[in-house]
Amino acid sequence: MVNTKVTLSGWELDNPVIPASGTFNFGKEFADFYDINMLGTFSFKGTTREPRFGNPTPRIAETPMGMINSVGLQNPGIHAVIEHELPELKKIFNKKVIANISGYSVEEYVYCCQLIDKEDQVGIIEVNVSCPNVHGGGMAFGTDPKNVYEVTKAVKAVTTKPVYVKLSPNVTDIVEIAKAAEAGGADGISLINTLLGMRIDLKTKKPVIANKMGGFSGPAIFPVALRMVYQVAHAVNIPVIGMGGVSSAEDVIEMMMAGATAVQVGAANLVNPYACKEIIENLPKVMEKYGIKDLNDIIGIA
Ligand code: SIN
Repeated sequence: MVNTKVTLSGWELDNPVIPASGTFNFGKEFADFYDINMLGTFSFKGTTREPRFGNPTPRIAETPMGMINSVGLQNPGIHAVIEHELPELKKIFNKKVIANISGYSVEEYVYCCQLIDKEDQVGIIEVNVSCPNVHGGGMAFGTDPKNVYEVTKAVKAVTTKPVYVKLSPNVTDIVEIAKAAEAGGADGISLINTLLGMRIDLKTKKPVIANKMGGFSGPAIFPVALRMVYQVAHAVNIPVIGMGGVSSAEDVIEMMMAGATAVQVGAANLVNPYACKEIIENLPKVMEKYGIKDLNDIIGIA
């Protein structure tokens, strides 16, 4: 019998596998495929103060070993999430969820986090300062350590739940940004969001994506994500949730060896809706293969 339980800021998860924000909506589509209560938890779709229709289409481009998205934070808005999505989720998911919050100003982050903080169903607030698909928000915050510090501090001042700051890889020094979040009072770090990418259609001679560029994710980015998780986990004294191209139980273990306490799975859910189920089922077998009795023994071991 191996131990797959891990703890994030006092919250014990049955296993470290967490579908990433933007790849699992608010859970109900995946509940048609399997019992989502087997997940560690999941991070819900990035939510803003106002409802957002998202970017013009096409928003998706395929790449070898990955994909590019420019969804543009399409979401029903914080009030609809609280009034409709969370009550619906309660019918199918008996665990707490991670609330992914985005914004265009410090005030918007504060507004949304203050509201979501009151919800019993929320275990962690994931402050997304890293969406590459919106102008003047998201990644615009996450690439400047001063902004990251300011947003984190402001959100911490109005919340009681653990706050994890989700970082962008589109920076020169990821450690500087992670340390700014820690200095602002973050309880943990989530990384990485997507890498800014682009494709051009040879027939039309134009960018495939209407917004020209988008966030590149999938197995191709795994080594970059692993490197950044390793760097950040060794530089801060708060837990790290690792993500970026994770698609197997082996990837989960590698991320944890780099320093992640838990691991999010993103693009893999869009290729195979059973991806997280299969990873969770395989995890004990892969642990046994490598002589790992307890996942907590390997966090940061590399
Ligand atoms: C999007 O909705 O554009 C993706 C969200 C993100 O990358 O944070």
